[in-house]
Amino acid sequence: MKRLRLGVLASGGGSNLQSIIDRSLDGSLQADVVVVISNNSGAGALKRAVNHGIEALHISGVTEGSAEAADWKITEEMKSRKVDLVVLAGYMKKIGDILLGAYQGRMVNIHPALLPKFGGDGMYGMNVHKAVVAAGEKESGPTVHIVDSQYDHGCILAQINIPVQPDDTPETLQKKVLEKEHIIYPETIKKLAEEWQE
Ligand code: GRF
Repeated sequence: MKRLRLGVLASGGGSNLQSIIDRSLDGSLQADVVVVISNNSGAGALKRAVNHGIEALHISGVTEGSAEAADWKITEEMKSRKVDLVVLAGYMKKIGDILLGAYQGRMVNIHPALLPKFGGDGMYGMNVHKAVVAAGEKESGPTVHIVDSQYDHGCILAQINIPVQPDDTPETLQKKVLEKEHIIYPETIKKLAEEWQE
């Protein structure tokens, strides 16, 4: 079975990246992370990559001089490593048109709520969980979706529903959803890897 080559974009701690690396290493995911790119030189995700001997690159509008130049550079780094699937794992920058064009239908994101609810501009990090709790939702959970030109908009590939308890706070909910993210993201990539064998 051909192993899928993954290029991960991440801005933060990288716990989702770690869950993908772990499944890759234990043999349950037929895919390898071949490069991790971050706009943030201090990202925990870059450290995790280095710890596993994975190439870690810092590329941003600042390092390249403009957002367009960064978009071009990121696309080149992905293409030159023959990346099959671009995986967004807590990436806080808007995806540029060049990367989107090069990886149409081959880029995925994970969002910490049940899209199409609680997505879109400004809906990231703790904002999402605050909004879910404030709306009195009975359920929440992660969504994995294909990335298109609109925030949190592309085709939904997988979701896990978990109950929101009356005593849940944004913080407790974040923790519960994140635990499920670590299951659903590698599982969804595994399904894509299997489908793409055909
Ligand atoms: C996750 O909650 C994910 O849903 C969102 O960003 C967060 C990233 O967390 N897109 P981590 O860096 O993977 O720990």
